[in-house]
Amino acid sequence: MDEDGVRAQQDQDSVLIFDTTLRDGEQSPGATLNVEEKLEIARQLSRLGVDICEAGFPIASPGDFEAVHRIATEVGPLTHGRPSGQPMVIAGLARANQKDIARAYEAVKVAPRHRIHTFLATSDIHLKHKLKIDREECIEQVVEAVRYARTLCDDVEFSPEDAGRSDPEFLSVVLGQAIKAGATTLNIPDTVGYTTPDEFGWLIGYLMENTPGADQVIWSVHCHDDLGLATANTLAGVKAGARQMEVTVNGIGERAGNTSLEEVVMALHTRHQVFNLRTNIDTTQITRASRMVSAYTGIAVQSNKAIVGANAFAHEAGIHQDGMLKSHLTYEIMQPETVGLSSSRLVLGKHSGRHAFRVRLQEMGYNGLSDDEINIAFGRFKRLADKKKVVADADIEAIIADEIYQPPEIWHLNHIQVSCGDHSIPTATVNLTGPDGDIYQDAALGSGPVDAVYQAINRIVGTPNTLTEFSVKAVTEGIDAVGEVTIRVQPHNGEGDQVVNPQTGRPFIRTFSGHGASTDIIVASARAYLSALNKMLAAREEQPNLPGRQAVTG
Ligand code: KIV
Ligand code: ZN
Repeated sequence: MDEDGVRAQQDQDSVLIFDTTLRDGEQSPGATLNVEEKLEIARQLSRLGVDICEAGFPIASPGDFEAVHRIATEVGPLTHGRPSGQPMVIAGLARANQKDIARAYEAVKVAPRHRIHTFLATSDIHLKHKLKIDREECIEQVVEAVRYARTLCDDVEFSPEDAGRSDPEFLSVVLGQAIKAGATTLNIPDTVGYTTPDEFGWLIGYLMENTPGADQVIWSVHCHDDLGLATANTLAGVKAGARQMEVTVNGIGERAGNTSLEEVVMALHTRHQVFNLRTNIDTTQITRASRMVSAYTGIAVQSNKAIVGANAFAHEAGIHQDGMLKSHLTYEIMQPETVGLSSSRLVLGKHSGRHAFRVRLQEMGYNGLSDDEINIAFGRFKRLADKKKVVADADIEAIIADEIYQPPEIWHLNHIQVSCGDHSIPTATVNLTGPDGDIYQDAALGSGPVDAVYQAINRIVGTPNTLTEFSVKAVTEGIDAVGEVTIRVQPHNGEGDQVVNPQTGRPFIRTFSGHGASTDIIVASARAYLSALNKMLAAREEQPNLPGRQAVTG
């Protein structure tokens, strides 16, 4: 590894943040992201100060390769404003074989700092039932894979999958061989979230003490949350000596998810006396990262989620409110501003001009928007300000997510009209602009107003699908609040977009999320639905052998 490499910047008082939102996070059921969304998230991870960004699993599909390659090309060189002053390392995941490794390298090599992350299971359960190889063959494959990766790249991470259920003695032999073969980071995954903090901390300590060459590598931890212990296990691993934490924004990931970036970072930050460790994370970017990931993946953040939940800084009980008024120290261990929650809830009104709006956007961290995007958002803001007395930061965030963070439009919503009530059959008329620029209009009945709108859109767009999730939430308090709708759809024919799960090697069908915001929740629902359909159609266009649009009416 060269002098600029990750190890060179590592000191014993700091922990590297390896973010896998775009790889393990994207393996969450339904968390399909398109390339533009992945790029936007990668840019935010860079602003956040993430040290290593695992951008994807390049062999999984041409779309995954392209996303990793574009992140390596467009985000890989960015240093602007990064707390560490260095660009992120861009990592690509590969199973322990030459084809995967070569593909991962092709995808990441353009980034000034890049890493190959290769893995092979080491638990007897996985060796016997999944890989059908014995321990000797396992060691051979690891050595061959790591050695090959090192011929391509100076920065090679190896992960013994299911380490949490592997025999520690065997694990130390495998890891010792991986170090000899040239691994520079050894990552210990609790793949199925099975261990407890004591056990996991002990395992890290044992491996660091008993693996030959342990002091030549960075030790890393990667935990899953099946028993709700991912944060505790990760912190136990760090206490035992690990100096890299693998995390995802909002804790999204396979099954119950991965360790939450925001939880472990804020634990180190808030309890500095306990851990005596720092990270390169700019904590004020956490809220924005959380909202962006939630909007793009369609995975809502539970309101009582630590750090980023809607109630994380709310004080409801009278006795707590009374204490807070006397001193915020009574019930607040972190200040909301530290994680980027603005203290000024009432920011702009209908008399605010374009300049004030632009300044507010900049204060909120939206520095990369083009003039066109600002103009579009300003138009929406003005219309909203006409309806609401005051426009809060949360409203502005919803507008930006709705207008800017959307997939490229194949179908555009012009307008909808709905009639409903307890004595009538809900009926909707929908007017859309199609991909050919023509106007399409149709009407349908439904079991409710949202269903009627969706049926009318289906009649025009003609892509059969099942709505697998629908949620609506108010972004601020009050009857005039903006409603944010998040939905997920799965293509009916099951061929929307197949990707390979890196752990099982099996293809699975993606679901597509969409989000929309408006003071009218039927309009927000229509926007969310069209956003999901646009994503689904774009994925099909990337794979021309799959069935495309079947326009029904003109
Ligand atoms: O959980 C796991 O084992 C993984 C590996 C690929 C690191 O995600
Ligand atoms: Zn994982």
